[in-house]
Amino acid sequence: MSDTASLTYGETTFPLNVLTGTEDEKALDVRQLRKESGLITYDDGYGNTGSCESSVTFIDGDKGILRYRGYDIAELAEKSNFLEVCLLLLNGELPSSQELAAFESKVSSFQNLPSEVLDSIQAMPSSVHPMGSLAAGLQALGGACPHLCTNDRNQDIANFDDAAALIIAALPALAAANYRKKAGESLRKPDASFNYCENFLSMMFEKDGDASINPALSKALDLIFLLHADHEQNCSTSTCRMIASGGANPFASLAGAVSALWGPLHGGANMAVINMLNDIHGSGDDGSKFIQSAKEGKSRLMGFGHRVYRNYDPRAKILKSACDKALAALGVSSPILDIARRLEEVALQDPYFIDRKLYPNVDFYSGIILQALGFPTNTFTVLFAIGRAPGWLAHWKEIAQTGKKIHRPRQIYQGSNLRSYISVENR
Ligand code: SDX
Repeated sequence: MSDTASLTYGETTFPLNVLTGTEDEKALDVRQLRKESGLITYDDGYGNTGSCESSVTFIDGDKGILRYRGYDIAELAEKSNFLEVCLLLLNGELPSSQELAAFESKVSSFQNLPSEVLDSIQAMPSSVHPMGSLAAGLQALGGACPHLCTNDRNQDIANFDDAAALIIAALPALAAANYRKKAGESLRKPDASFNYCENFLSMMFEKDGDASINPALSKALDLIFLLHADHEQNCSTSTCRMIASGGANPFASLAGAVSALWGPLHGGANMAVINMLNDIHGSGDDGSKFIQSAKEGKSRLMGFGHRVYRNYDPRAKILKSACDKALAALGVSSPILDIARRLEEVALQDPYFIDRKLYPNVDFYSGIILQALGFPTNTFTVLFAIGRAPGWLAHWKEIAQTGKKIHRPRQIYQGSNLRSYISVENR
C-alpha cells in the first residue's frame, strides 16, 4: 500500500514515502532525506525511530499486546515451552514434534562445555559480576568453537543452527559455573535425563548427590525464560543488531547484548526491584512512604514504567499469577510479594502513575519467583539473558540474512567550531 507524506523546508517540499507494517503501523521513510534535502532527523534515544523492518516480534504498547512470530504471549505461556519458543523465534514457525525432539537432544548434548571454557570462568576474578562472567564466557565459548564464529557472513549463517543451539545450551552452564565458583562448590555436570530447566536448577543447586527437582519449580523457570525470549528493538536487542550489522559473529553480538542488558534501567531492573522490596520491608514501611518518595522524584518505583508499554505489560500479568503458583509449590509465603501487591494497588490508583501511564513491567514480579527458587539477586539479570538469548539470536539471523548495511547513525554536532592549536607555553 503506497502512502506518501511531504516535508516542507524553506521554499522546497520533499515527498516522503510512508511504510506500512503488517499490523498497519506507519513510518515515514527518510532514507533519502539527507541526500535530497541536506536534513537529518533527530531523535535521541530513538523513541520515535524505526531502526529496521523485522518479522520476529510485534508489540502494541498502547494495547499491551506482545506476540512472537504472530502468536500471543498469553497463549504461548499457557500452551508452549521455552525450547519450542526458541525454535519458533529462530525459524519463524512452530516446530514439528520431530524438529523439537531433535533440537532438545542437540541442546542437551551441547550442555557439556569445553573444559577450557569452564577453566576461563574459574580463572576470572572472584569479584566479577555474574553478567560480566556471562559476557566473557560467551566470548570464550566462541573462541573454543572457531568454526562457528568466523565473521564470514555466509559461513556464520551456514553454521548458525549449531551456534544457536550451543549458545542456548551453554548459557545455563556458564551461569552455574560462575555461581558454584563463587559458592566454593565443585561444578555439577549436566544430566541428560533432565530437561533444560531441571538441568539448570541441578547444575546450580544440587548438593550431596540430591538431584531431585520439584517439577513445579522447573516449570516456573521455563515460564520465566519463555516470557523473556524476545521483545523487539529493546536496548540489548538493538545492541545485538548493531554489532551484527558490522558482520560480527553470534557469540560477539550476544556478548555485547549481555552487556547492554546489565544496566539497572533495562535487564538490571529485576535485581533493583528485589533490592527495593527488601529495603521497604526492612524499613517497616508498607510501601506508602516509598510511593511518596517516587512521586517526589527521590526514587524510582523499579519494575514500573516502560519505553513502549503505556499499559500493563502482558508479561507482568502472567508472572503475577505465576508467583502464587510457585510460592504455593514451595509452601512458602513471601512478605515482599505482599509489599509488591500493595505497591501495585496504590500506584495503579495514584494520578502520578496514571497520568504518566506507568504500569508494572516484566521485572516487577519476576524477581519474587527467582528469589523463591533460590537464585541470588545478583544472578537475576543472568536469568533474563538466558531467556532473551533466542530473541537476540533470531535478530542476529534476521540482520545477517537480509544483508543490511552497517548501522551508522548520524548526529547534530554541538561542539567547538574550528580553532587553531596553541602551544603549551602559551595556554
Ligand atoms: C525492561 O525496551 C524493552 O522492551 C525493555 C524490556 C525488555 O523486555 O527488553 O521490556 C525489559 O527493560 C523493562 C524496564 C525495566 N526498567 C525498570 O523497571 C526501571 C524503572 N523504570 C524506569 O526507569 C522507566 O520507566 C523506563 C526507563 C523503563 C522508561 O523510561 P521512559 O519511558 O524514558 O520514561 P521517562 O524516564 O521519560 O519518565 C517519564 C516520566 C518521568 O516523570 P516526569 O519527568 O514526566 O515528571 O515518568 C517518570 C519519570 O520520572 N517515571 C517514573 C518511573 N518511570 C518513569 N517515576 C517513578 N518510577 C518509575 N519507575
